Order: sequence, then structure tokens, then C-alpha cells
Amino acid sequence: MRLPKLPLPPLPSALQPQPKRPTETMHPGPLEQAREAGISAVDWVDERTSLSGGLRWLLFRKVPRGTNWFYTLGSATLFAFLSQAVTGVFLAMYYDPSPTRAYESTRYLTNEVFLGQFVRGMHKWGATMMMVLIFLHMGRTFFFGAYKYPRELNWVIGVVLVVLTMMMGLTGYLLPFDQRSYWATIVAVNINGTGPIVGPFLGDFLRGGAEFNATSAAFLFSGRSR
Ligand code: HEM
Repeated sequence: MRLPKLPLPPLPSALQPQPKRPTETMHPGPLEQAREAGISAVDWVDERTSLSGGLRWLLFRKVPRGTNWFYTLGSATLFAFLSQAVTGVFLAMYYDPSPTRAYESTRYLTNEVFLGQFVRGMHKWGATMMMVLIFLHMGRTFFFGAYKYPRELNWVIGVVLVVLTMMMGLTGYLLPFDQRSYWATIVAVNINGTGPIVGPFLGDFLRGGAEFNATSAAFLFSGRSR
């Protein structure tokens, strides 16, 4: 891809190159040497990858007039998603999706594994944050009319993403398999089951059968992994 050429942004005065004093050039101190080594290493990589061009294209572009903080909600949602993906991979290393061992594996992960409680906390709060952010982002695009031509497909893809996000939230809540997750999932699945026409089918689908039983947990976990 050919990147557009942008003029260099002016360097702040503190970073402007100053002429060196004679003693500095003759006897560079350890700090100066470390700085030069760092610059040489970055230059070495940049000369071979041209990464700085792409970075400048990304970071120093002109932001359209009228842009404000509401436009950051999409990137914030993306960040929340990436955080969920990374922490989720680590949780999955210890989680056991069997109805008899799910609770114990979650207890072990929380109390015994190094930083387990921290990573689980990040994932749990991250899920809530992602839900809040995605709806704020959706509200922003709705109220700003950003779903109109030529952004209709953005909206359609967004609807798919919000459904997937809610599915992850629903199935994730069941995973610890304690009393709260068990009953909360039954309530949520029953609410889906009361919907018109497709409701009962949806309820059966989410339960993995007519009854909520041991296979439902494994079914909901497999739904996440897919
Ligand atoms: C995983 C969830 C999502 C991610 C990571 C995401 C990410 C983004 C990002 C980074 C932008 C550009 C910056 C911005 O306007 O905020 C954007 C724009 C947009 N998003 Fe999302 N989004 C998600 C969900 C949704 C949902 C649920 C909807 C609506 C149903 C939606 C509709 C739109 C629209 C219409 C735009 C264009 C806005 C404009 O051009 O002004 N997105 N999205």
C-alpha cells in the first residue's frame, strides 16, 4: 500500500538538535553513549522496515474538524475486546468445562494460581466494560446519524457484533458454575424463551435441549470456543 506523504510535524524545542560543545563530542558520557546506542538500534530497524512512515501516517494524521471524545468509543470497545481475548486465553488454560469440575477449576484458578485472581478480575470487569462501551458506541453512532449512507454496512456489521458480544456475556456468566451463574443463566435463557414465534426455539437452542441440565454447561462453553 502506498502511504500518502505528510509533512513532518515540527519538533518541540526541547527535542531540537543543539550544536554539541567540543568536550561533549570528544568524551561522550555513559548517558550520551546509551542514548546514541538506542537511536542507532531504532534507526537500524527503521532503515530495514520503514516502520516510522506507517507510524507517522497513523499518529500524525489530521483529525477532521468536529471530531470529539465520543468518536473514541469504537476504539475503546476494540481495546476492551482485545483485553478480553488475551485474558480469556489465560483463563482457558486452567478452566475445565465439565459440570462437575467447572466450579472447582474456577476456585483453583482464583485462589491457587499465580495472578489468577487478577487475570480473572480483569476478565470479569472487562466484560462489563465492553458491554457498557459497545452500547455507548452504538448510541453514539445512532444519535449522530453515523449509520446513514455510506455507513449502512458498518451498522449491520455492528448489529452482528453486539449480538455476538451479548452471547459471549451470557455464556461467560455461566462458566464459574456457582449458584449465581446457574440461576442467572436459567433466568436469561427463559427470558429468551418467552419471545414471540422464535422464542421457544431459541430457548431450546440455548439450553442445548428442552431441559437445563449437565450438557447445557458444556454446550454453552463449546459455543464460546467456536
Ligand atoms: C466489537 C464491537 C465493535 C467494535 C470493536 C467497533 C469499532 C469501531 C471503530 C474503531 C470505529 C471507528 C471510530 C468510531 O467511530 O468510534 C467504529 C465506527 C462505527 N461503528 Fe463500530 N464497533 C463495534 C460495534 C458496533 C456496533 C454494535 C454498532 C451499531 C450497531 C457499530 C456501528 C458503527 C458505525 C455506524 C460506525 C461509523 C461511525 C462513523 O463513521 O462516524 N459498531 N466502530
